[in-house]
Amino acid sequence: MNILIIGSGGREHAFAWKLKQSPRCGHLFIAPGNAGTALLGTNLPIGVSDFENLAQACVEHQIALVLVGPEEPLVKGIYDYFKKTDAVKHIHVIGPSQTAAQLEGSKAFAKGFMKRHQIPTASYKKFTVDNYIEGAEYIKAHPLPIVLKVDGLAAGKGVVICENVIEALAEFELMLLRSKFGEAGKKVVVEEFLTGIEISVFALTDGKNYVLLPEAKDYKRIGEKDIGLNTGGMGAISPVPFADEAFMQKIKAEIIEPTIRGLQAEKMEYKGFVFFGLINDNGNAKVIEYNCRMGDPETEVVIPRLKNDFLELLLATAEQRLDQVQIEIDPRVAATVMAVSGGYPGEFMKGIPIKGLDEKAIEDSFVFHSGTMVEEDRVVTNGGRVLTITSLGDTINEAVEQSNYMMEQIFFAGMYSRGDIGYEFRK
Ligand code: AMP
Ligand code: GLY
Repeated sequence: MNILIIGSGGREHAFAWKLKQSPRCGHLFIAPGNAGTALLGTNLPIGVSDFENLAQACVEHQIALVLVGPEEPLVKGIYDYFKKTDAVKHIHVIGPSQTAAQLEGSKAFAKGFMKRHQIPTASYKKFTVDNYIEGAEYIKAHPLPIVLKVDGLAAGKGVVICENVIEALAEFELMLLRSKFGEAGKKVVVEEFLTGIEISVFALTDGKNYVLLPEAKDYKRIGEKDIGLNTGGMGAISPVPFADEAFMQKIKAEIIEPTIRGLQAEKMEYKGFVFFGLINDNGNAKVIEYNCRMGDPETEVVIPRLKNDFLELLLATAEQRLDQVQIEIDPRVAATVMAVSGGYPGEFMKGIPIKGLDEKAIEDSFVFHSGTMVEEDRVVTNGGRVLTITSLGDTINEAVEQSNYMMEQIFFAGMYSRGDIGYEFRK
């Protein structure tokens, strides 16, 4: 069976790596892919939201299943586009419908959904230019810190945590009156600041049933000990030590099941991953955000721990048979460490040759490419996050140290990685 993966990050490389292990996997195509995915299949130079050309490629290459990695095409409605286009409507698309993808695509929609289904989350109010004055009053009367979120997708930049009222009012004005985020910022959610440790939990749903995948914790700040600017993610671990059986049972009952039931009750088609960004406030979890896809770099620790045949799992999702599936998890720890370009998350250069990728692989360590491409037979950098190395080990220490050791074998000018992934859980 031929498969198309949409996206070009470490997440998509990990998907490709896992799918390739399935006996039923035929030819793999990745659009647009990277230098890593090119080793496992054929990269197609098509943008992730170019639905017309993606559909045409699906016909040409007899694709039976499309796995969508990033949020953009999902929020723009790729699922619905395939369902309503005759030539490709028979193809399984793993992802939510456009309506359901609003769980990620609109913060106001997600908050309304959680309210309707009594799912614990930060208290909030939403504002537009029409009730701007009311919003400013709300901010002035609100305890600090206070969190401002633009409604739409903003490439991870649409959330601002303000420590004082002046800063909050200035940001509120920039968002609503000065269109700092364009269309995405026409609505703003103002919410309570939550404290606690963050954890990412993943469900795969077929619209009726769901299975739980391993949970993960990602490390978003550029600097060690979580200091400095926010990034797309500098590393991740799975499992998360505090997510014990009791904690997981509680979030299943209070968050995951009400979410899946809510989607069904509101008749929102959803055959894909639900990513719950949670905060653990002394054993009480609240939802910080929903994403309608897998996380990156969380996928690079979740997928290597999954023992099931990934293609069979996706087919069971497409055919609403997840009630018949038993998830099997490798009990070992997975840790992934990201190598980024010098300057990231600010300005950085691209096209820098990467050395050491061909060094002898170590068992239970895997290199997943993110921003890489092949140029004149050389692998060169092509983004801020360049590649990530995942290792499996008996402890967090062992897994992280193995990835750090592997990282020392790889080099490109300006390369940087955090050596302290999982630090708060390491001895
Ligand atoms: P989001 O785009 O909603 O994931 O927000 C980005 C990041 O901002 C989250 O991963 C949290 O670290 C932080 N954040 C968002 N909302 C809150 C909140 N209500 N309280 C504390 N931190 C938050
Ligand atoms: N690592 C966070 C995300 O994928 O959104």
